[in-house]
Amino acid sequence: MSQPSSQPDLRPASSAPVRVAARLSVLAAASALAACGMMPDAPTFGLMNHGQPTSAIARLAPTSGSTVEGEIRFSEHGGDTLVEINLRHLSPGSHGFHVHEKGDCSAADALSAGGHFNPDGQPHGAPETAHHRGDLGNVTAGADGTVNVNFHVKNLALTGDDGIVGRALIVHAAPDDMATQPSGNSGKRLACGVIVRN
Ligand code: CU
Ligand code: ZN
Repeated sequence: MSQPSSQPDLRPASSAPVRVAARLSVLAAASALAACGMMPDAPTFGLMNHGQPTSAIARLAPTSGSTVEGEIRFSEHGGDTLVEINLRHLSPGSHGFHVHEKGDCSAADALSAGGHFNPDGQPHGAPETAHHRGDLGNVTAGADGTVNVNFHVKNLALTGDDGIVGRALIVHAAPDDMATQPSGNSGKRLACGVIVRN
């Protein structure tokens, strides 16, 4: 007698855990909403970010047949961008140094990075004259094959529509003559790195 009568009682009992689980997920959603309720603080975070310099880094890896590598750091200071260059295993002398359009170093020769970053439709040239925005001139390696130099560049935003983050930094085998179109005749691409926020 007690068994048949207890079975109807078991059904609501067995569905109870489901209801508890459902209630827990509602609670989870509610706490997620509560977390979203913190979002009014977002403008404060935005202001905090504004006060800090925007910075980025490209870690350059050798292309096929090359051992050239290094790190290039970028940071915005006022209207200028500071470029800090550390490269290794170059041949002594000058090497073309550019921001290329696409952040894709996947090809063995780094041709996947495309041409020089040129959002202004300018000819290739020296940094002091009409030039692609990605034309950073040459870097010069010493007898030990390293480059350790810093310089400031104008008009080289890191972020935004014309930012260099997400593009590639490339160092070449030959000097950039800053005249030959469209790339300064700077030869093979020896190392390539995608520019990322840091
Ligand atoms: Cu280049
Ligand atoms: Zn160029």
